[in-house]
Amino acid sequence: MSQQVRVRVPATTANLGPGFDALGLALRLYNVVEMQRRDEPDDIIVLTGEGETTLPRDATNIVVQAADVLFREVGLRRAGLQVQLINNLPLSRGLGSSAAARVAGLMAANELAGRPLNQAALLRLATQLEGHPDNAAAALLGGLVSSCLDEDGSVHAVKLTVSHPPRFIVLIPDIEVATHAARDALPHSVSLRDAVFNVSRACLLVSALVTGDRAALRAALRDRLHQPYRSRLMPWLDAVIAAAIDAGAYGAVLSGAGSSVLAMADEPTADIANAMLQTLRAAGHHGSVRTLEIDEEGAVIE
Ligand code: HSE
Repeated sequence: MSQQVRVRVPATTANLGPGFDALGLALRLYNVVEMQRRDEPDDIIVLTGEGETTLPRDATNIVVQAADVLFREVGLRRAGLQVQLINNLPLSRGLGSSAAARVAGLMAANELAGRPLNQAALLRLATQLEGHPDNAAAALLGGLVSSCLDEDGSVHAVKLTVSHPPRFIVLIPDIEVATHAARDALPHSVSLRDAVFNVSRACLLVSALVTGDRAALRAALRDRLHQPYRSRLMPWLDAVIAAAIDAGAYGAVLSGAGSSVLAMADEPTADIANAMLQTLRAAGHHGSVRTLEIDEEGAVIE
């Protein structure tokens, strides 16, 4: 059994427009968690970066909660933990910070426990904690991942290879959107027409990213299952998407539950970044833009 472990977990963008709760993509921006056993019963949690003034430093921290789920699952009682969190993922912005925290907690605890669970079992637990598999699957596996959740809690996840990846330009507004609020904004049922609109584009999007077909990518980056409802919480969303497309993006979509917006393009990315930022500013908000590449490794023990 290890006494100490360091886990690095990537940011993830979920949905990618039409693939609501089904598609996720890992991006090269990382949180790091170091976890160590203590002989004493109490936990020591040190936190730097995103959330350092707001996140809890006790057993309610979701990294520690996830670790405790793992220890319970494998029947281990633990003493205290010393945990260091180095957070680079912005919180409540649709870039998978909660999935990263949970995956990191599960993986770190699994390592400390002597690695009793395999990746599939970790994904099942991470999905239970998240409620949907898209961010968790991409955070664990890396790359572009399609996934689904069975009624019995089993998760199927397949990692795909993106050929000729476009640039991923991420607008990160200074606005937090809680995932539960963004999910509460969704309807309980949708029309068959809207379901077909999304199913066809989700399939096309996967094909477009796997083959590098840019015309298909342009057609696929649209959604009728979540964005129209969530734009009531983020009234600037449609204008930001339109600005990105006007500036040359193949399309732009809400990243996860928001508030970030993900545009896909080849060159020139600076025009698209500026267009999105200016449109957000015109709506009275600030933000920043990052151009990120795909992370192919997923969560790793360093
Ligand atoms: N698929 C999820 C959603 C991702 O859109 O609500 C957010 O974590």
